[in-house]
Amino acid sequence: MFEKAFFKFMKILPASSENIKKAAEFIKNGKLVAFPTETVYGLGADGLNPIAVSKIFEAKNRPTFNPLILHIADKSDLEKLAETGNQLIYKLIDKFWPGPLTLVLPKKDVVPEIVTAGNPTVAVRMPDHPVALELIKLSGRPIAAPSANAFGELSPTTAQHVVKQLGKKVDIILDGGSCKVGVESTIIGFVNEEPVLLRPGGIPLEQIESVTGQLKKHYTESEDSNPLSPGRLPFHYSPNIPIRFFDDKMETETRTKRVGALFFKEPGVKLNFAKILFLSKNGDTKEAAANLFSALHELETSGLDLIYVEPVPETGLGIAIMDRLKKAVKKYEK
Ligand code: TXA
Ligand code: MG
Repeated sequence: MFEKAFFKFMKILPASSENIKKAAEFIKNGKLVAFPTETVYGLGADGLNPIAVSKIFEAKNRPTFNPLILHIADKSDLEKLAETGNQLIYKLIDKFWPGPLTLVLPKKDVVPEIVTAGNPTVAVRMPDHPVALELIKLSGRPIAAPSANAFGELSPTTAQHVVKQLGKKVDIILDGGSCKVGVESTIIGFVNEEPVLLRPGGIPLEQIESVTGQLKKHYTESEDSNPLSPGRLPFHYSPNIPIRFFDDKMETETRTKRVGALFFKEPGVKLNFAKILFLSKNGDTKEAAANLFSALHELETSGLDLIYVEPVPETGLGIAIMDRLKKAVKKYEK
């Protein structure tokens, strides 16, 4: 009895092998488990159990037209879930799995409609994180998992971020420390057998294109009505206080408001901000991606009125960072 009550209270569990086993039992029993991946924390449920999957949508307040990614622990499991006729698929997974690459492929019947939001395709990835891989292996099924944030808000890169947004709605949170990549996976789909980039993410575009050749991009324009990428809404990833890119009103704003600033590199001059953070001391986009959401979470909870953010160069992971920042800023544009 006592243990049960205590357990309920102690939702965050260190990701020891014993706790991963416990979490896998929860998955098998149709419950929700938040777990670390190399990109962001995921909110997982048994991907073959429609009722378990429906709990993800409820907990996140996520529209059911927005499909989920299935996470697998073995490359060979891809064939059980999706059609893998296109030869590029194997080139991509040989090079990038386990890792932050999601493939959108024609689905097989075993995948429930709720996972794909009624689409004929399913998104699959093999994460590069020992805790995620062990959890999937022990639960013996693919784990459906979106990022473990409330719909539209900042993505979580620590267990504490998950508690902040979803606390009571998750059965267990496995704490595996900070996510090393820090932005979500790169998503590639296929149109008439041609690869298409649906979301820039944790693998730099240049690296993907070294395998695929130049990719068509399908993520900037008309995302709100893009059937290829149903979940890519025009705003997303937003802190709950206004955020803007650096502009010429900034100095005036710092006189009347508590303004926080997020710089790309360590700034040389200290301006009149209430709080200053930077993403990477020396301007490395990989390091910046790893720090992006943590910095935004910190600024969100620092009693500020407004956040100003410096654009980062759109090379390497800078493309994924700017994709997230543009969407975050969009929410507060007049
Ligand atoms: O790194 C990641 O991908 C993280 C970790 C937890 O794995 N997951 C993640 O999931 O970012 P989520 O749900 O926050 O974003 C998944 C994106 C959504 O934009 C969704 O619309 C898209 O993948 N997606 C899923 N299934 C799809 C499909 N069948 N066709 C097109 N897009 C799909
Ligand atoms: Mg998300």
